[in-house]
Amino acid sequence: MKKGLFIVFEGPEGAGKTTVIKELESLFTDSNIEYIFTREPGGISISEQIRDIILNKDNVEMDGRTEALLYAASRRQHLVEKVIPALEKGKIVLCDRFIFSSLAYQGYARGLGMDNVMEINNFAIEGHMPDLTILFDIDPREGLKRIHINSEREVNRLDLEGIEFHEKVVEAYHILAKRYENSTVIVDASKSLAEVIEKVAKEIITFIERKGYI
Ligand code: TMP
Repeated sequence: MKKGLFIVFEGPEGAGKTTVIKELESLFTDSNIEYIFTREPGGISISEQIRDIILNKDNVEMDGRTEALLYAASRRQHLVEKVIPALEKGKIVLCDRFIFSSLAYQGYARGLGMDNVMEINNFAIEGHMPDLTILFDIDPREGLKRIHINSEREVNRLDLEGIEFHEKVVEAYHILAKRYENSTVIVDASKSLAEVIEKVAKEIITFIERKGYI
């Protein structure tokens, strides 16, 4: 049986991932590709509950390792309950954030160490790495400016970190893009929304064609 493809969208705050994903959804609906869209942390009830705890602005006491473990726990449940079953049915899984987020935010920006964070995540994901990661690349200052302009978007606990934190997130993403260059594509997210959508759609179509899906 044909196994599905796991495609992940990554990037710093305000890179426009969520907006682009919404637009892509209509593109996919009009095709006959079998897919699901989902997100981390969240995507299913248990993981959405964990998301609420992690991102709650009142949880100022949260320790960095607790945060990393909660993201890994949320990831584990989402993976076994939603992602793996869809892949086993041969579907394309399009997921807003995955392990790179933990490596960049907790491992690098929070200073826990990418190797330490990888270790707890290895326990959580048991080798289920993305087939393709699309990295939305943007200057962190530009990204933060965008989220402050977009009043519809709720500001979460991690958004409140200083600019140095967000600069480190972007630096880490660049390190990861090099480390996983065979499965990562970088998209310039400072371009117009229409250009970014076109580029991301093209990358996905090329990838799934190459894998013999269409
Ligand atoms: P979102 O706003 O893209 O939905 O992501 C929620 C926040 O959680 C965002 O600030 C990035 C952060 N995050 C981590 O720090 N580590 C992770 O592993 C994930 C998945 C998200």
